[in-house]
Amino acid sequence: MTVKIAVLVSGRGSNLQAIMDSIEKGYIKNAAINVVISNKANAYALERAGNYGISTVFLDPEEYDRAEYDKAILDILNRYDTDLLLLAGYFRLLGNEIIEVYRNRIMNIHPSLLPAFKGLHAQKQAFEYGVKVAGCTVHFVDEGLDSGPIILQRCVPVLPEDTEEALTARILEQEHVIYPEAVRLFTEGKLKIEGRNVVTRT
Ligand code: GAR
Repeated sequence: MTVKIAVLVSGRGSNLQAIMDSIEKGYIKNAAINVVISNKANAYALERAGNYGISTVFLDPEEYDRAEYDKAILDILNRYDTDLLLLAGYFRLLGNEIIEVYRNRIMNIHPSLLPAFKGLHAQKQAFEYGVKVAGCTVHFVDEGLDSGPIILQRCVPVLPEDTEEALTARILEQEHVIYPEAVRLFTEGKLKIEGRNVVTRT
């Protein structure tokens, strides 16, 4: 059975790219990205998806109120018979109705070791805080901000000569490793949620 994936994006789409590549290379099996939805017309992620022959939709937030916007997303997810929804650099809060319908089937990548540094500019927050270890997290999405059960995390060191940009790049490299890995575990049926704890069967 093919796991049908939809991806929400807002910008560059390098995580989307990593997942598309992982499907193409056969690292993630039995899965297909059927649609990529953006809240930004000029998101480069849309171009990346188009290059792979994936359907793309730009949903203009200016044209809907909040509830209607979520309804429009839900309609697309239903139309594409979505099994798994991925947030990949999606900079807009997801409505509760979507979370309810797709509970435990929505993943997000966040560029910090959650629960530290939630919200925007997580790498900058970590850098300015002076942490010695930073990283990234893939988690299931619940109603809170970056608060759902954690699937995978990866650490990177913060080096004495680091800049925020260098740290951000080091974290991003690991994002491109753990997001495809988390999707693979999901598509192989190896993730089980027990309360806050995600148990991985190997
Ligand atoms: C990534 O670093 C992702 O972790 C972050 O935005 C970037 C998107 O890059 N997401 C968040 O901060 C969400 N709170 P991409 O568009 O190249 O994948």
